[in-house]
Amino acid sequence: MLTTVSRRYRAADGTSKTALKWVWNNSPWTRSRLDFGPRINHNAAVSTTMNSIDNANGEASAAPRPAPAIEARKLSVGYGPIPVLREIDFTVSPGEVVALLGVNGAGKTTTVRALAGELKPTSGEVWLNGRVCTAPLHRRAKDGLRLIPEERSVFMTLSTADDLRLGGQSQSRCLELFPELEKLLPRKAGLLSGGEKQMLTLARALASDPVVLLVDELSLGLAPLVFERLLLAVRAAADRGAAILLVEQHIRQALEVADRAYVLSRGQVALEGPGQEMLGRIDEIEQTYLAVAELEK
Ligand SMILES: Nc1ncnc2c1ncn2[C@@H]1O[C@H](COP(=O)(O)OP(=O)(O)OP(=O)(O)O)[C@@H](O)[C@H]1O
Ligand SMILES: [Mg+2]
Repeated sequence: MLTTVSRRYRAADGTSKTALKWVWNNSPWTRSRLDFGPRINHNAAVSTTMNSIDNANGEASAAPRPAPAIEARKLSVGYGPIPVLREIDFTVSPGEVVALLGVNGAGKTTTVRALAGELKPTSGEVWLNGRVCTAPLHRRAKDGLRLIPEERSVFMTLSTADDLRLGGQSQSRCLELFPELEKLLPRKAGLLSGGEKQMLTLARALASDPVVLLVDELSLGLAPLVFERLLLAVRAAADRGAAILLVEQHIRQALEVADRAYVLSRGQVALEGPGQEMLGRIDEIEQTYLAVAELEK
């Protein structure tokens, strides 16, 4: 069970603020692994905007949110002549986990692929680190964008250790994030279980301290405990300063760690709001936007 703990701290402008941590079972072990140190501000030079965040009691309070690390502005994307996304707007700022929800076929993967530079917009723009971005994925990667696609991508014939090495990440950093990987280092990455592969993929992405991380269906085929473990790592990465977009079918778990969420319906943003508020309305949201009836529209 993911729960929140909070700590008051003095911000740079002298005001007192609440920092939140999501902890698994609120155990001392987990608490000891989550420090409340200063966040990395990847967008230090960019101005901030005022927004509302939830505190540990679920009450809204005004707090500055850094300018977006990634942003869709009136973004439309299609496949050939078939339009899929229609003028969607959304932002993900450093330090945020933003959940992207919607029924099958709503356009979630299309959104992620367009943000990553794999699909070209038919109109509208993607902004990365405060600039319009039209570069392909490998150039966006140089600017700190990482993508974890639906299909797990590991080097099938290499050992887990070599997979990490080829991915260019420090093995010790990956093991610091996921000590579970240590015993798997000699094993061929292609022979890892679905959960282990996903852990390896996430370790590679998080060890690079991404500015933006796009995760498509983290939970796919994972046991609930492994999923919770990975969600916790995603939350901790955001707390270190990453901007994380999380596409997820398991909406309750996603909302438990998300600062904000958007619901896509037939290629448009149908709803957006703070994660805790959406969690409080989960039944209504499921019935209205995520039910089978929505699929059949
Ligand atoms: N390569 C493609 N060519 C044509 N149409 C596509 C292609 N990929 C996706 N689509 C269509 O675009 C729409 C949105 O697909 P997308 O994969 O973005 O949905 P999704 O929200 O990720 O769904 P899911 O929850 O099932 O993963 C669907 O109607 C799908 O059939
Ligand atoms: Mg998808």
